[in-house]
Amino acid sequence: MTSRQIAVFRGDDASPEVMDPTLEILRDLNLDLEFIFPLVGAEAIEQTGERFPDESKAQIDAAAATLFGSTSGNSTQALFYLRWGKQTFANVRPCKYMPNAASPLKHPEAIDFAIIRENLEDLYLGLEGPIDDLSALNLFAPHARSSLKDLGPGRYAIKAITEAGAERVIRFAFELARKRAGKRKVTLTSKYNMLHQSDGLFRDIGRAIAEEYSDIEFETFIVDDFLCRMITQPDALDVVVTPNLYGDILSDGAAGLIGGLGLAPSGCFGADYAYFESAHGTAPDIQGLNVINPTATLLSASMMLEYLGLEENARALTSAVTATFKEGRTLTPDQGGTSTTTDFCDSVRFHLGI
Ligand code: IPM
Ligand code: MG
Repeated sequence: MTSRQIAVFRGDDASPEVMDPTLEILRDLNLDLEFIFPLVGAEAIEQTGERFPDESKAQIDAAAATLFGSTSGNSTQALFYLRWGKQTFANVRPCKYMPNAASPLKHPEAIDFAIIRENLEDLYLGLEGPIDDLSALNLFAPHARSSLKDLGPGRYAIKAITEAGAERVIRFAFELARKRAGKRKVTLTSKYNMLHQSDGLFRDIGRAIAEEYSDIEFETFIVDDFLCRMITQPDALDVVVTPNLYGDILSDGAAGLIGGLGLAPSGCFGADYAYFESAHGTAPDIQGLNVINPTATLLSASMMLEYLGLEENARALTSAVTATFKEGRTLTPDQGGTSTTTDFCDSVRFHLGI
Protein backbone atom coordinates (compact mmCIF):
# COMPACT_ATOMS: atom_id res chain seq x y z
CA MET A 1 0.00 0.00 0.00
CA THR A 2 1.36 3.45 -0.84
CA SER A 3 1.22 5.85 2.05
CA ARG A 4 -1.40 8.57 2.15
CA GLN A 5 -0.28 12.18 1.99
CA ILE A 6 -1.27 14.73 4.61
CA ALA A 7 -0.74 18.40 3.77
CA VAL A 8 0.64 20.25 6.79
CA PHE A 9 0.89 23.96 7.49
CA ARG A 10 3.06 24.41 10.55
CA GLY A 11 1.49 27.80 11.28
CA ASP A 12 2.83 31.09 12.59
CA ASP A 13 4.44 32.33 15.83
CA ALA A 14 4.20 29.60 18.52
CA SER A 15 2.12 27.24 16.36
CA PRO A 16 5.05 25.12 15.04
CA GLU A 17 5.91 24.36 18.69
CA VAL A 18 2.75 22.26 18.91
CA MET A 19 2.57 21.12 15.31
CA ASP A 20 6.08 19.62 15.19
CA PRO A 21 5.71 17.31 18.24
CA THR A 22 2.23 16.32 17.01
CA LEU A 23 3.73 15.23 13.68
CA GLU A 24 6.46 13.31 15.50
CA ILE A 25 3.82 11.43 17.46
CA LEU A 26 1.88 10.64 14.28
CA ARG A 27 5.08 9.48 12.57
CA ASP A 28 5.96 7.19 15.46
CA LEU A 29 2.51 5.61 15.36
CA ASN A 30 3.51 4.18 11.95
CA LEU A 31 0.22 4.95 10.25
CA ASP A 32 1.58 5.01 6.73
CA LEU A 33 1.04 8.75 6.42
CA GLU A 34 3.43 10.98 4.53
CA PHE A 35 3.54 14.64 5.53
CA ILE A 36 4.00 17.25 2.83
CA PHE A 37 4.44 20.96 3.46
CA PRO A 38 2.88 23.20 0.80
CA LEU A 39 4.42 26.67 0.62
CA VAL A 40 2.45 29.75 1.61
CA GLY A 41 3.18 33.33 2.67
CA ALA A 42 6.68 34.72 3.12
CA GLU A 43 8.44 31.44 2.37
CA ALA A 44 6.40 30.95 -0.81
CA ILE A 45 7.19 34.46 -2.02
CA GLU A 46 10.87 33.87 -1.38
CA GLN A 47 10.95 30.60 -3.30
CA THR A 48 8.37 31.10 -6.06
CA GLY A 49 7.54 34.81 -6.20
CA GLU A 50 3.91 34.03 -5.33
CA ARG A 51 2.15 34.11 -1.97
CA PHE A 52 0.08 30.98 -2.55
CA PRO A 53 1.31 29.19 -5.67
CA ASP A 54 -0.87 26.80 -7.70
CA GLU A 55 1.49 24.01 -6.73
CA SER A 56 0.43 24.43 -3.07
CA LYS A 57 -3.23 24.15 -4.06
CA ALA A 58 -2.43 21.03 -6.06
CA GLN A 59 -0.69 19.54 -3.02
CA ILE A 60 -3.73 20.24 -0.83
CA ASP A 61 -5.99 18.72 -3.49
CA ALA A 62 -3.86 15.58 -3.75
CA ALA A 63 -3.63 15.08 0.01
CA ALA A 64 -6.06 12.86 1.93
CA ALA A 65 -6.55 15.73 4.41
CA THR A 66 -4.83 18.86 5.72
CA LEU A 67 -3.56 19.62 9.21
CA PHE A 68 -3.48 23.38 9.59
CA GLY A 69 -1.46 25.27 12.23
CA SER A 70 -2.90 28.57 13.46
CA THR A 71 -2.07 31.60 11.40
CA SER A 72 -1.54 35.25 12.29
CA GLY A 73 -1.95 36.18 8.63
CA ASN A 74 0.98 34.54 6.87
CA SER A 75 -1.00 31.50 5.72
CA THR A 76 -4.47 33.05 5.54
CA GLN A 77 -4.71 32.38 1.80
CA ALA A 78 -4.25 28.68 2.41
CA LEU A 79 -6.97 28.81 5.07
CA PHE A 80 -9.35 30.54 2.66
CA TYR A 81 -8.57 27.93 0.03
CA LEU A 82 -9.23 25.14 2.55
CA ARG A 83 -12.61 26.67 3.37
CA TRP A 84 -14.03 28.11 0.14
CA GLY A 85 -11.79 26.33 -2.36
CA LYS A 86 -12.49 22.93 -0.84
CA GLN A 87 -16.06 23.81 0.23
CA THR A 88 -15.59 22.59 3.81
CA PHE A 89 -19.01 23.74 4.97
CA ALA A 90 -19.26 22.13 8.42
CA ASN A 91 -16.84 23.31 11.09
CA VAL A 92 -17.07 20.85 13.98
CA ARG A 93 -15.83 22.16 17.32
CA PRO A 94 -16.12 19.56 20.08
CA CYS A 95 -16.30 20.69 23.67
CA LYS A 96 -15.69 17.83 26.10
CA TYR A 97 -14.41 18.27 29.61
CA MET A 98 -11.30 16.34 30.67
CA PRO A 99 -10.78 15.88 34.44
CA ASN A 100 -8.12 18.30 35.79
CA ALA A 101 -8.55 20.80 32.96
CA ALA A 102 -8.78 24.38 34.23
CA SER A 103 -12.52 24.91 33.81
CA PRO A 104 -13.91 28.00 35.58
CA LEU A 105 -17.11 26.05 36.36
CA LYS A 106 -17.86 24.27 39.63
CA HIS A 107 -19.31 21.20 37.89
CA PRO A 108 -17.91 20.82 34.38
CA GLU A 109 -17.73 17.00 34.59
CA ALA A 110 -20.62 16.17 32.27
CA ILE A 111 -19.86 18.70 29.50
CA ASP A 112 -19.74 16.89 26.18
CA PHE A 113 -21.16 18.69 23.16
CA ALA A 114 -20.08 19.82 19.71
CA ILE A 115 -20.76 23.10 17.98
CA ILE A 116 -21.30 22.74 14.23
CA ARG A 117 -20.57 26.09 12.72
CA GLU A 118 -21.61 26.79 9.13
CA ASN A 119 -18.26 27.63 7.61
CA LEU A 120 -18.76 29.39 4.28
CA GLU A 121 -21.51 32.01 4.30
CA ASP A 122 -23.40 34.36 6.64
CA LEU A 123 -21.23 37.45 7.25
CA TYR A 124 -18.11 35.63 6.03
CA LEU A 125 -18.71 36.18 2.31
CA GLY A 126 -16.36 39.15 2.30
CA LEU A 127 -19.10 41.47 1.01
CA GLU A 128 -18.17 44.73 2.70
CA GLY A 129 -17.64 48.25 1.49
CA PRO A 130 -18.62 51.91 1.67
CA ILE A 131 -22.36 52.44 2.24
CA ASP A 132 -22.20 54.91 -0.59
CA ASP A 133 -21.56 52.07 -3.05
CA LEU A 134 -25.14 50.85 -2.40
CA SER A 135 -26.81 54.22 -3.06
CA ALA A 136 -28.20 53.16 -6.44
CA LEU A 137 -30.23 50.43 -4.70
CA ASN A 138 -32.25 53.03 -2.74
CA LEU A 139 -32.43 50.76 0.28
CA PHE A 140 -34.73 51.64 3.17
CA ALA A 141 -33.78 50.45 6.67
CA PRO A 142 -37.14 49.72 8.35
CA HIS A 143 -35.96 49.63 11.95
CA ALA A 144 -33.94 52.82 11.58
CA ARG A 145 -36.85 54.33 9.60
CA SER A 146 -34.37 55.85 7.25
CA SER A 147 -33.08 55.31 3.77
CA LEU A 148 -29.64 53.78 3.95
CA LYS A 149 -27.91 56.70 2.32
CA ASP A 150 -29.41 59.17 4.82
CA LEU A 151 -27.63 57.34 7.65
CA GLY A 152 -24.44 59.08 6.57
CA PRO A 153 -21.02 57.83 5.53
CA GLY A 154 -19.96 54.41 6.76
CA ARG A 155 -19.48 50.80 5.71
CA TYR A 156 -21.84 47.91 5.13
CA ALA A 157 -21.39 44.16 5.43
CA ILE A 158 -23.74 41.66 3.83
CA LYS A 159 -25.05 38.59 5.62
CA ALA A 160 -26.41 35.83 3.41
CA ILE A 161 -27.98 32.51 4.43
CA THR A 162 -28.72 30.27 1.46
CA GLU A 163 -31.17 27.39 1.43
CA ALA A 164 -28.53 24.95 0.23
CA GLY A 165 -25.91 26.24 2.67
CA ALA A 166 -28.24 25.96 5.66
CA GLU A 167 -29.61 22.59 4.62
CA ARG A 168 -26.28 20.82 4.23
CA VAL A 169 -24.86 21.98 7.55
CA ILE A 170 -28.05 21.24 9.48
CA ARG A 171 -28.26 17.78 7.92
CA PHE A 172 -24.62 17.25 8.91
CA ALA A 173 -25.57 18.15 12.51
CA PHE A 174 -28.41 15.61 12.61
CA GLU A 175 -26.18 12.90 11.17
CA LEU A 176 -23.54 13.70 13.78
CA ALA A 177 -26.13 13.50 16.57
CA ARG A 178 -26.96 9.99 15.34
CA LYS A 179 -23.33 8.99 15.14
CA ARG A 180 -22.41 10.35 18.56
CA ALA A 181 -25.32 8.38 20.02
CA GLY A 182 -25.17 10.58 23.12
CA LYS A 183 -28.16 12.67 24.13
CA ARG A 184 -29.38 12.40 20.51
CA LYS A 185 -30.30 16.05 20.37
CA VAL A 186 -29.75 18.94 17.95
CA THR A 187 -29.96 22.49 19.26
CA LEU A 188 -30.23 25.15 16.57
CA THR A 189 -29.45 28.73 17.44
CA SER A 190 -29.60 32.01 15.52
CA LYS A 191 -31.09 35.48 15.98
CA TYR A 192 -34.39 34.62 14.32
CA ASN A 193 -36.42 37.10 16.38
CA MET A 194 -34.54 40.04 14.86
CA LEU A 195 -33.29 38.69 11.55
CA HIS A 196 -36.61 37.13 10.49
CA GLN A 197 -35.53 36.57 6.92
CA SER A 198 -31.98 35.28 7.10
CA ASP A 199 -31.72 33.67 10.54
CA GLY A 200 -35.44 32.83 10.30
CA LEU A 201 -34.69 30.81 7.17
CA PHE A 202 -31.93 28.95 9.02
CA ARG A 203 -34.39 28.01 11.77
CA ASP A 204 -37.20 27.08 9.34
CA ILE A 205 -34.90 24.79 7.39
CA GLY A 206 -33.84 23.21 10.68
CA ARG A 207 -37.48 22.56 11.61
CA ALA A 208 -38.18 20.96 8.24
CA ILE A 209 -35.14 18.68 8.44
CA ALA A 210 -35.98 17.73 12.03
CA GLU A 211 -39.17 16.08 10.69
CA GLU A 212 -36.97 13.55 8.91
CA TYR A 213 -35.11 12.65 12.10
CA SER A 214 -37.79 11.51 14.50
CA ASP A 215 -35.12 9.69 16.56
CA ILE A 216 -33.31 12.96 17.31
CA GLU A 217 -34.70 15.61 19.65
CA PHE A 218 -34.72 19.12 18.19
CA GLU A 219 -34.84 22.48 19.97
CA THR A 220 -34.17 26.08 18.98
CA PHE A 221 -32.99 29.06 21.03
CA ILE A 222 -32.31 32.67 20.12
CA VAL A 223 -28.56 33.06 20.20
CA ASP A 224 -28.27 35.44 23.20
CA ASP A 225 -30.52 33.20 25.29
CA PHE A 226 -28.54 30.20 24.01
CA LEU A 227 -25.27 31.70 25.24
CA CYS A 228 -26.69 32.06 28.74
CA ARG A 229 -27.87 28.42 28.63
CA MET A 230 -24.52 27.25 27.27
CA ILE A 231 -22.84 28.76 30.33
CA THR A 232 -25.38 27.76 32.97
CA GLN A 233 -26.44 24.31 31.68
CA PRO A 234 -23.75 23.17 29.24
CA ASP A 235 -24.26 19.51 30.07
CA ALA A 236 -27.76 19.65 28.55
CA LEU A 237 -26.23 20.10 25.08
CA ASP A 238 -25.26 17.48 22.51
CA VAL A 239 -24.98 18.87 18.96
CA VAL A 240 -25.39 22.61 18.35
CA VAL A 241 -25.79 24.03 14.84
CA THR A 242 -25.49 27.71 14.05
CA PRO A 243 -24.57 30.20 11.29
CA ASN A 244 -20.94 31.13 10.76
CA LEU A 245 -20.32 34.21 12.92
CA TYR A 246 -22.31 32.99 15.92
CA GLY A 247 -20.40 29.71 15.65
CA ASP A 248 -17.10 31.56 15.65
CA ILE A 249 -18.01 33.43 18.81
CA LEU A 250 -19.84 30.64 20.65
CA SER A 251 -17.10 28.10 20.03
CA ASP A 252 -14.46 30.25 21.70
CA GLY A 253 -16.86 30.64 24.63
CA ALA A 254 -17.42 26.89 24.71
CA ALA A 255 -13.66 26.35 24.86
CA GLY A 256 -13.56 28.73 27.82
CA LEU A 257 -16.02 26.50 29.67
CA ILE A 258 -13.76 23.46 29.55
CA GLY A 259 -10.43 25.14 30.28
CA GLY A 260 -9.55 27.51 27.48
CA LEU A 261 -8.70 27.76 23.81
CA GLY A 262 -5.60 25.63 24.26
CA LEU A 263 -7.90 22.63 24.53
CA ALA A 264 -10.21 23.26 21.57
CA PRO A 265 -9.76 21.15 18.44
CA SER A 266 -11.70 21.50 15.22
CA GLY A 267 -12.38 19.78 11.95
CA CYS A 268 -13.89 21.35 8.82
CA PHE A 269 -15.74 18.91 6.58
CA GLY A 270 -16.91 19.22 2.99
CA ALA A 271 -18.47 16.65 0.68
CA ASP A 272 -15.07 15.27 -0.35
CA TYR A 273 -12.43 16.99 1.76
CA ALA A 274 -11.63 17.85 5.36
CA TYR A 275 -9.01 19.82 7.19
CA PHE A 276 -8.21 20.00 10.88
CA GLU A 277 -6.97 22.89 12.97
CA SER A 278 -6.84 24.01 16.57
CA ALA A 279 -9.35 26.79 17.21
CA HIS A 280 -6.77 28.91 19.07
CA GLY A 281 -4.52 31.66 17.73
CA THR A 282 -0.75 31.72 17.33
CA ALA A 283 0.13 32.77 20.91
CA PRO A 284 2.90 35.22 19.90
CA ASP A 285 3.41 36.23 23.55
CA ILE A 286 4.77 32.79 24.43
CA GLN A 287 6.58 32.02 21.17
CA GLY A 288 9.88 30.25 21.74
CA LEU A 289 9.14 29.38 25.39
CA ASN A 290 8.04 25.77 24.73
CA VAL A 291 4.96 26.20 26.95
CA ILE A 292 2.12 26.42 24.43
CA ASN A 293 -0.55 23.82 25.17
CA PRO A 294 -0.45 21.09 22.49
CA THR A 295 -3.86 19.63 23.43
CA ALA A 296 -5.90 21.38 20.73
CA THR A 297 -3.50 20.30 18.00
CA LEU A 298 -3.22 16.73 19.29
CA LEU A 299 -7.01 16.41 19.48
CA SER A 300 -7.37 17.94 16.00
CA ALA A 301 -4.93 15.30 14.78
CA SER A 302 -7.08 12.68 16.50
CA MET A 303 -10.15 14.00 14.63
CA MET A 304 -8.13 13.69 11.43
CA LEU A 305 -7.23 10.08 12.17
CA GLU A 306 -10.89 9.30 12.70
CA TYR A 307 -11.73 10.92 9.35
CA LEU A 308 -9.04 8.81 7.71
CA GLY A 309 -10.66 5.66 9.04
CA LEU A 310 -7.98 5.11 11.70
CA GLU A 311 -10.54 5.05 14.50
CA GLU A 312 -8.54 2.93 16.88
CA ASN A 313 -5.49 5.19 16.64
CA ALA A 314 -7.75 8.22 17.03
CA ARG A 315 -9.21 6.80 20.22
CA ALA A 316 -5.76 5.90 21.55
CA LEU A 317 -4.44 9.42 20.93
CA THR A 318 -7.42 11.06 22.62
CA SER A 319 -7.14 8.63 25.56
CA ALA A 320 -3.44 9.43 25.92
CA VAL A 321 -4.24 13.16 26.11
CA THR A 322 -7.04 12.51 28.61
CA ALA A 323 -4.74 10.30 30.72
CA THR A 324 -2.11 13.05 30.75
CA PHE A 325 -4.69 15.47 32.13
CA LYS A 326 -5.92 12.94 34.64
CA GLU A 327 -2.42 12.44 36.05
CA GLY A 328 -2.01 16.21 36.08
CA ARG A 329 1.79 16.08 36.52
CA THR A 330 2.79 17.53 33.14
CA LEU A 331 0.27 20.29 32.49
CA THR A 332 1.26 23.55 30.80
CA PRO A 333 0.94 26.96 32.53
CA ASP A 334 -2.45 27.78 30.95
CA GLN A 335 -3.79 24.78 32.95
CA GLY A 336 -2.11 25.84 36.16
CA GLY A 337 0.88 23.54 35.61
CA THR A 338 4.58 24.31 35.34
CA SER A 339 5.50 21.86 32.59
CA THR A 340 6.62 22.41 29.04
CA THR A 341 5.02 21.48 25.74
CA THR A 342 7.66 18.75 25.47
CA ASP A 343 6.81 17.33 28.94
CA PHE A 344 3.14 17.15 27.99
CA CYS A 345 3.89 15.44 24.68
CA ASP A 346 6.31 13.02 26.38
CA SER A 347 3.49 11.95 28.67
CA VAL A 348 1.18 11.47 25.68
CA ARG A 349 3.90 9.36 24.03
CA PHE A 350 4.27 7.29 27.19
CA HIS A 351 0.54 6.56 27.26
CA LEU A 352 0.63 5.62 23.59
CA GLY A 353 3.53 3.28 24.25
CA ILE A 354 5.87 5.00 21.77
C1 IPM B 1 -11.52 30.59 13.67
C2 IPM B 1 -10.80 31.89 13.50
C3 IPM B 1 -10.97 32.37 12.06
C4 IPM B 1 -12.45 32.62 11.84
C5 IPM B 1 -10.14 33.59 11.69
C6 IPM B 1 -8.66 33.34 11.86
C7 IPM B 1 -10.43 34.05 10.28
O1 IPM B 1 -11.24 32.82 14.43
O2 IPM B 1 -11.20 29.63 12.96
O3 IPM B 1 -12.41 30.52 14.52
O4 IPM B 1 -12.99 33.66 12.20
O5 IPM B 1 -13.09 31.74 11.27
MG1 MG C 1 -12.60 32.00 15.88
